[in-house]
Amino acid sequence: QNNTTTVKINLDETAPIISKHIYGHFAEHLGRCIYDGIYVGEDSKIPNTNGVRNDIIDALKGLKIPNLRWPGGCFADTYHWKDGIGPKEDRPEMVNRWWGGVTEDNSFGTHDFLDLCEILGTEPYLAANVGSSTVQEFTDYLQYVGHKEGSPMSDLRKENGRPEPWNVTFWGVGNEMWGCGGNMTPEYYSNLYRQYATFMTDWTNSDKMFRIASGANVADYHWTEVLMRDIPKNLIEGVALHSYSFVEWEKKGSSTKFDEAQYFSTMQTALKMDELINKHTAIMDKYDPNNKVALIVDEWGGWYDVEEGTNPGFLYQQNTMRDAMIAGTTLNIFNNHSSRVKMANLAQTVNVLQAVILTEGEKMLLTPTYHIMKMYTVHHDAQLLPLTFESELYTYNNETLPAISASASKDKNGLVHISLVNIDSKKENKIEINIKDLGVKNITGSILSSSKLQDHNTFDNPAKIQPKEFKNFKVKKGVLEIELPPFSVVVLEAK
Ligand code: AHR
Repeated sequence: QNNTTTVKINLDETAPIISKHIYGHFAEHLGRCIYDGIYVGEDSKIPNTNGVRNDIIDALKGLKIPNLRWPGGCFADTYHWKDGIGPKEDRPEMVNRWWGGVTEDNSFGTHDFLDLCEILGTEPYLAANVGSSTVQEFTDYLQYVGHKEGSPMSDLRKENGRPEPWNVTFWGVGNEMWGCGGNMTPEYYSNLYRQYATFMTDWTNSDKMFRIASGANVADYHWTEVLMRDIPKNLIEGVALHSYSFVEWEKKGSSTKFDEAQYFSTMQTALKMDELINKHTAIMDKYDPNNKVALIVDEWGGWYDVEEGTNPGFLYQQNTMRDAMIAGTTLNIFNNHSSRVKMANLAQTVNVLQAVILTEGEKMLLTPTYHIMKMYTVHHDAQLLPLTFESELYTYNNETLPAISASASKDKNGLVHISLVNIDSKKENKIEINIKDLGVKNITGSILSSSKLQDHNTFDNPAKIQPKEFKNFKVKKGVLEIELPPFSVVVLEAK
């Protein structure tokens, strides 16, 4: 049959659980992500809780965000946490040397961030400044955050209004150590990592601390090889990977005014995530056959030129249906690799790169990427249902890409969810799935689509793109037949 992709669902009781942490976010002190984004200050006329916008709190709660990475990014290896505690008027200023050279007044610090995480019900993912600090500064930080009472740092925390410790599991040990974190070799960083990790404790003896080594840039397999070879497995729980999607790194192009060639190239880099994970995982399998160390993709997303008239160091960009395609396919890739990929962080949460939320003064909008993240919450902590299929092709200028991306899971209540993406810019695609063995009685669906790939939500029309009910499917003799419009994302629920 023309344009039909036949998908087989494999019922495998040993399949992994899709960790909800795959749906994590990242908020750096960069541009308008924190200041004039998440944090407007208590005196702002924008309704806020401890200075954090209430509309953003509500929107992030809507995504059930499982973890939030902070304060960077490159910023993390310039950050001195003691500058961000105590009375705000006494906090020293610094220059944000990576992002626009602006003055950072440290008014949003560790208390502000960890309290926000508690309000959101999300797990913090903090970072050690390895690039420009010391083991001592870092161990003080661990003591400040996690030690119960009666130590110099827990006393200081109490003085600052927080007697009880916070519960922080995830810690990054430096960021992009091959680049902005210090331009190190993997051999040098592995040694430094060993030193930092040796002194790390959450002070609870609970063995819960999750230490994440700064990982490879895209296809730098040598980096992963050295880290996996040189870091003892009792000192590490996760190794990171960063990979962004773009047209060309040197010529990124506009986030909204792009042609099909640029769309196609962007999707080539986005879909490359599958190969990257396969190859990094193969190296990890060699050194860690028992799958103890997780692969953490703690930066991913689309990266374009900044919006005209905005600070080039602020990385502010719009978000279109192209980004919905990146999000839908990337999250499917992560789900399908959930035996090794245990956590990921979209870059970034508000007003930076592939943001889920954009703000302008009092106004706020939810991007197409937000809606995909929300539609996919059904996969959080559900058991993966592995799929096998050979996708129809999306052809552009004699080059091809698989048009269809899919993943499926079964949640604790027995509900089956299937997320499907058709990235083809022009062609509808049909999917057939044999569901006889699923014992399904009722199927419902939602879709995110629009008439143009370049479509996006604006502050004047913030609801132009939002999920709608999807009905273009039928079940015939136990086979589910679905019609996927061009560049659309569909999530089906079967019960
Ligand atoms: O997300 C923006 C930047 O991209 C981060 O600070 C850095 O880690 C990466 O290069």
